[in-house]
Amino acid sequence: MYKKILVASDGSSYARKAINVGAEIAKRFKSELTLITVIQHPMNTFGLFGVEELGPEAYSILKKKGNDIIKEGKEQLKVYDLSIHYVLEYGNPGDTIVQYAKKNNFDLIVVGSHGYGEVTAHMLGSVSDRVNHHAHCSVLIVR
Ligand SMILES: Nc1ncnc2c1ncn2[C@@H]1O[C@H](COP(=O)(O)OP(=O)(O)O)[C@@H](O)[C@H]1O
Ligand SMILES: [Mg+2]
Repeated sequence: MYKKILVASDGSSYARKAINVGAEIAKRFKSELTLITVIQHPMNTFGLFGVEELGPEAYSILKKKGNDIIKEGKEQLKVYDLSIHYVLEYGNPGDTIVQYAKKNNFDLIVVGSHGYGEVTAHMLGSVSDRVNHHAHCSVLIVR
């Protein structure tokens, strides 16, 4: 069960929790684990801005931010004796996570319930909500 697990991180405390849960499940099922971070245009809520509109300077700042989040994840996952892949993608986070999971045949996606947005008690974050509704595979939302 769960041969390929995709954990998504935006660097938030919720994502840190999701990373630990994903790693524990991967350990239990000897799964291949991938950590994905998606960077996007600061005004890209509706997916209107591609890399071209961003310009090279802004892109390299975003890329640095994304790589820092990946680096933190790597650090956190050091204690696990697992085969782990790290991926940095550009685009709308929810859609990109869903597409990446489908294209690469993941069978579980793990996300935090929230991220850096305002936490409302009964509502999921926008990314976790989107992944939950559109993923082709099981989704674990870590609270
Ligand atoms: N840019 C991103 N890249 C990868 N994963 C993300 C990204 N943004 C959010 N996530 C994942 O989705 C979870 C929920 O975040 P999100 O839905 O953005 O909540 P909020 O609306 O509070 O920011 C995070 O804990 C993380 O697992
Ligand atoms: Mg967010």
